[in-house]
Amino acid sequence: MDIRLQALRPGFVACVTGLDLGEELPDAAVRAIEDAIATYAVLVFPGQPISIDEQVAFGRRFGPLDSGLQKKLLSKVQTRLGNEAVSDISNVSMDGSVAGRRHRQAMMNVGNQFWHSDASYEHHPFRYSILAAQCAVSWGGETEFADLRAAYDALDPHTRDLVADRTGVFFSHNVRQWLGMEDSAEDMAAYPPVRWPLVRTHPVSGRKLLWIDSKVREISGLSVPEGRALAHELLEHVGQRERVYAHGWTAGDVVMWDNRSVLHRGRRFDMEERREMRRVSTVDDAASLGLAG
Ligand code: OGA
Ligand code: MN
Repeated sequence: MDIRLQALRPGFVACVTGLDLGEELPDAAVRAIEDAIATYAVLVFPGQPISIDEQVAFGRRFGPLDSGLQKKLLSKVQTRLGNEAVSDISNVSMDGSVAGRRHRQAMMNVGNQFWHSDASYEHHPFRYSILAAQCAVSWGGETEFADLRAAYDALDPHTRDLVADRTGVFFSHNVRQWLGMEDSAEDMAAYPPVRWPLVRTHPVSGRKLLWIDSKVREISGLSVPEGRALAHELLEHVGQRERVYAHGWTAGDVVMWDNRSVLHRGRRFDMEERREMRRVSTVDDAASLGLAG
């Protein structure tokens, strides 16, 4: 094994080569990846055209994989990939053709265009997400990542005090409601809102981070409008260009990120083009976040 890391920015985003993700990784490689992601938060593995099974096997090396999202929500749209641990991040319909823009599978992913951390609205959010590109679009469709640690460091002292002891209410359907996506009462009830502190300390890097995303619909101690306005302002702060890396995809790219350290969002593309990605995610536990529950 000759794993090589090339930092794209100091302490944020590294390109990893010298590994074959389709093969069972030696323990030393798994540790090296965990160390690297604690520092860089986003790892890009170019030229790794892995199968669904290989992606699942790779993901499992980093912890148990989530299957709840698939079971509770996404499988109701369609089950093209046939594995509950794998999310279909595509605009492809069951018959393999490009789904029209009003097809539920295509609309489902529009919510991904808003800054988020995967499953921030769950009691057990995701730790790592691993996204593999099956094809590339000719324009747009990048995935952007924003550094929550740098965002915390760059807060002005007044705002840092304001958020210090506050919690946010994270609600799964916040963006979907705004987008006018109609969900059944049962789907809405599948993920009751959760509360998280707006400032966290990453359990491995020890860095403080600003824990905000588009799912936040209330902030403790503030009126609803004031809380939503502050959430919006904090998201704008997180998404400033100097804290953002945009990944333009090539087929066969695999990108792995730490949902505790970064937000991400997909960028617009021509919906008539095929954009096909798949994702696995490991589940996190409250203990690892230094939180009571
Ligand atoms: C995801 C996601 C954005 C994209 O897979 O979790 O948000 O660019 N993807 O497809
Ligand atoms: Mn996502």
